[in-house]
Amino acid sequence: MLRFICLSLLGAIVSAGHSCTPFLASLVQLDAGDGMVLGVSESGHVFNWTGNDFLLVPGQQLAHVTVGPAGIWGVGKDNVVYKLLGNQWKTITGGTLKQADAGGNTFLSGVNTKNNAVCLNWGFTTSKYTAVSFSTMDGSFIYYSCGLLGCWALSSDSNNNVFYRQNVDEMDCQGNSWIQVNGNMTMTKIEAGTDGSVFGVDSGGNLYRRLGISRNNPTGTRWHPLNYPLYISHATYDSGTLWCLTPNGVVFRCQVSGSGLV
Ligand SMILES: *[C@@H]1O[C@H](CO)[C@@H](O)[C@H](O)[C@H]1NC(C)=O
Ligand SMILES: *[C@@H]1O[C@H](CO)[C@@H](O)[C@H](O)[C@H]1NC(C)=O
Repeated sequence: MLRFICLSLLGAIVSAGHSCTPFLASLVQLDAGDGMVLGVSESGHVFNWTGNDFLLVPGQQLAHVTVGPAGIWGVGKDNVVYKLLGNQWKTITGGTLKQADAGGNTFLSGVNTKNNAVCLNWGFTTSKYTAVSFSTMDGSFIYYSCGLLGCWALSSDSNNNVFYRQNVDEMDCQGNSWIQVNGNMTMTKIEAGTDGSVFGVDSGGNLYRRLGISRNNPTGTRWHPLNYPLYISHATYDSGTLWCLTPNGVVFRCQVSGSGLV
């Protein structure tokens, strides 16, 4: 039955002009970056995309995982932060997070349990030491993701508006002010990619790509709906491949043309 549903979905998504392949991987969260894709299942097991399939990464159960230029990091159900060092998950002390993103150039970012956007300066991100000190920003947020051309956040108020952090760099990951991204869009997830591209998902399960992003205009110009015939709960992008999750845990691997960058 599940397979039949997937094949129907695949039929729908191919006929709508999108090239997507489904995997019955049963993931609840996933993150692509720096050529890798990692995800977690409902039971907290971590999976790694090997090129054909998702393979179990033994050792630590997590609620959230992230991979990117800042390395491989995870967050447990109890909000404890972990980093994969060598082949071992090490507990990181210095703060608890709800969400983490390793896509920053080159620093870890995320949202802590008080809804502050936080980041770890280069020295803390790259060191093998397990005690760190997070830099904390003003405001209240549910999601914070960084990519090549900066960092994007979703406010924790009922509008879940999109904000961009100004003057972030790897030596001063904290930046200094927020600007609201035009378009007044309400999103539940936002992901900035290793190449600078940005995708968002709204509360109706619709996926959008931010167009017109450049070094001179890092917030881009408009939200472009991708109109996938699926309810998408989460999406992440790396190197021309978009990975989408549906609420029942099916992973779709989709090829996207163009970069969205100018
Ligand atoms: C994931 O799989 C890729 C491809 O096989 C491999 O290069 C990489 O080291 C793996 N990462 C982890 C964390 O297991
Ligand atoms: C943005 O949208 C919210 C509802 O989501 C609305 O209350 C607000 O007035 C809008 N702001 C602008 C500047 O359009």
